[in-house]
Amino acid sequence: MASLAKDFFIGLSNNDFLNQSAKKFGARFGAERFVAGTVFDAIIPTIRQLNQKQISCTMDHLGEFVTDRSEAEHAKEKIMDMLHQIHEENLDCHVSIKLTQLGLDIEESFCIQNVEQILEVADACDVFVNIDMEKYTHYDSTLKILKLLRKNYPNVGTVIQTYLYDAEKDLSDLEDVRLRIVKGAYKEDSSVAYGSKDEIDKNFLKIAKKRLLGSAFTSIATHDHHIINELKKFIAEHQISTDNFEFQMLYGFRIDMQHQLVKEGYRFCTYIPFGEDWFGYFMRRLAERPQNLNLLVKDAFYT
Ligand code: FDA
Repeated sequence: MASLAKDFFIGLSNNDFLNQSAKKFGARFGAERFVAGTVFDAIIPTIRQLNQKQISCTMDHLGEFVTDRSEAEHAKEKIMDMLHQIHEENLDCHVSIKLTQLGLDIEESFCIQNVEQILEVADACDVFVNIDMEKYTHYDSTLKILKLLRKNYPNVGTVIQTYLYDAEKDLSDLEDVRLRIVKGAYKEDSSVAYGSKDEIDKNFLKIAKKRLLGSAFTSIATHDHHIINELKKFIAEHQISTDNFEFQMLYGFRIDMQHQLVKEGYRFCTYIPFGEDWFGYFMRRLAERPQNLNLLVKDAFYT
C-alpha cells in the first residue's frame, strides 16, 4: 500500500502538465506548509527569524527538468540575484541548486557555463553552493561536473544518496568535498539502488559515520530520529567536533526536533524551498511520507 502511494505521488511529480499548471496557481493545496513562498524578498524575514534561533538556511529556488534555454538562463539570474541579497542582508544562508534547472538536459556545456557564472558570484559574495543530487540518470554527469567545477571553485559541494549501491565507492573521490548525506528521494531501479528501508538506513549510517571521522564538513540530512539518535551516540563516543558537521531538515518538517537539536548544541540548517515551481518538490514529500497528507487535511480544517 505504502509503495503504491509512493509510486502514485512520484508519478504525479513527473507529470509535465500538472507541473506547468501548478506554476500558474502559486503554492496551494497545503503546499505552503512545505514551500516558504514564491519570491526571495518575502522569505528574508523567515530566514532572519531562523538565524536568530541559531539555525542557518539553504535556499532552493525551485525548478528542475528545464528544457528551454531562456528558462534555464532566467533561473540562473534569479539565483545570482539571491546570492547578492544574501550577502547584502548578511544572512546566515547558503544556496542549493539543481543542474537540470540550469540546462543539464539541454546541453552539458551550457549547464556548466551557467553554474560557473553562479559560482563566480557566490565566490564574490562568500556564499557556499550545494548541487542537489537528482535522478540516477543525472548521477554520473553531476559528479563529473562537480569535479570539473571544483578545479576553480572550491566553494561548491554536492549530495550523496545512500539508496545508491555506488554511494560508498564514490565517497572515496570526494573526501575533501563538503557533502550532504540523504537517503534519496527518487524512484530508482533495483539495478542501481537498494529498495528496502533497512538497507538504505544501514548504508546511511555507514556513510555518515565514515564522513564524520574525516575532515571535510558533512550535512546529515534526515528527519529520521533513529538515525539521528545513533549518530549522536557515535559523535559523543568519538568526540567529533560540532564544527565539522550539521544536521539538516526540510522547511516545515519536525520543527520541535529542529529546535531541540540546536538546544543540544548541534549546528542546524533548514532547507528552504521557494518559487513557483513547487509541484514536483511537493509531490516527492508526499511520496516519502503519505502521512504528510493528513497534516495538510488537518491544517485545512482546523486553521
Ligand atoms: P524517512 O522518510 O525514511 O523517515 C524515517 C522515519 O522518520 C519515519 O518512519 C518516521 O518514524 C520518522 N519521520 C520522518 N519524517 C517525519 C515527520 N515529518 N514527522 C514525524 N516523524 C517523521 N534527496 C535527494 O534525492 N537529493 C537531494 O539533494 C536531497 N536533498 C535533501 C535535503 C534535505 C535537507 C533533506 C532533509 C532531504 C533531502 N532529500 C534529498 C530527501 C531525502 O533523500 C529523503 O527522501 C527524505 O529526507 C526522507 O527521508 P528521511 O531520511 O527524512 O526519513
